[in-house]
Amino acid sequence: MAWDPAELPDAHDRTVVITGGNAGVGYFTAEQLAGAGVRVVLACRDPERAESAVAAIRRRVRGARVEATPLDVTDRASVDALAESLLERERVDALVLNAGMVHPPRERRTDRYGNELVLSTNVLGHFRLVARALPALERTDGARIVSLGSLASRLGSLRLDDLQLERSYTSWRAYSGSKIAAQVFGFELERRLRAAGSGVASLVVHPGYSTSGRTPGVRGVNQPSRAKRFADNLQAAWTQGKDHGAWVPVRAVLDPTLTGEGYLGPAGLTKGAPASGRATRASRSPRTGARLWPLLEAASDQEFTVR
Ligand SMILES: NC(=O)c1ccc[n+]([C@@H]2O[C@H](COP(=O)([O-])OP(=O)(O)OC[C@H]3O[C@@H](n4cnc5c(N)ncnc54)[C@H](OP(=O)(O)O)[C@@H]3O)[C@@H](O)[C@H]2O)c1
Repeated sequence: MAWDPAELPDAHDRTVVITGGNAGVGYFTAEQLAGAGVRVVLACRDPERAESAVAAIRRRVRGARVEATPLDVTDRASVDALAESLLERERVDALVLNAGMVHPPRERRTDRYGNELVLSTNVLGHFRLVARALPALERTDGARIVSLGSLASRLGSLRLDDLQLERSYTSWRAYSGSKIAAQVFGFELERRLRAAGSGVASLVVHPGYSTSGRTPGVRGVNQPSRAKRFADNLQAAWTQGKDHGAWVPVRAVLDPTLTGEGYLGPAGLTKGAPASGRATRASRSPRTGARLWPLLEAASDQEFTVR
């Protein structure tokens, strides 16, 4: 089916929660969904950045229904508090698992529980959040969980025997491994939801190669320096703005024809309108999914049985 990112269907009856919705792809996902009438909830770790994003959406989208709520995905109490608050909502149509550490540290770092920080940020907090908030999605017809994967999943590998990279940390392995794990989790979740007869779908997407220097300036949200704009524009042939990267998760939330079996990304791989693509065999592997799941349960201290 053809999809025009500029002609979104009306979605006034929906509520969508976006982790890390104050910046980058997450911000533009929220802004575009607000433009389609969605009530958007930005789950963010920094209250000031969250308020700047809320103000920007209100400024740029007439009649926007937008609010912010606290979330640090590396803090279990914060994740649990968000999950509790979602259970109290009448409906949650989609949970967009967007928050991420995209520039991992050179040296291995850990969160307060001793988990490697990139894995913690990009996967473990979201795993715990979904496990706890799933009943809120289950009671909403046609609800979706959207996982942000990456093209990096094509270039790296997932080390199930050293998931926390205690023996083999590099910043690239941490990022690519975390994004493969996010994709494996999304596809495994979809298999478990289908097996349980759930009405919720788990969709895995990637936003191509989207940089802030190619993204429109938004006061308080995206204000790259001239040097950054110059440098990012040198890569214009194969990059796009984060506003265009957001077209992908927006379609994943709104297109009723999509199912969890697909893998949505830009038509031109790194840039372009959202179209169906192909995830790596490793990401889709049920064997890898079954092996990763208990490791995520242990690391996030969260049992997760899909019923
Ligand atoms: N841009 C790309 O080309 C690309 C490609 C493939 C995949 N992706 C994925 O798309 C997602 C968004 O990427 P982006 O380029 O938009 O990144 P970004 O501009 O750096 O934005 C990341 C967002 O995540 C939030 N975040 C980071 N750590 C957090 C934490 N502990 N708790 C809560 N929120 C946290 C950030 O909040 P703060 O503002 O507080 O730091 C920010 O809102 C990521 O999952 C990334 O892996 C992006």
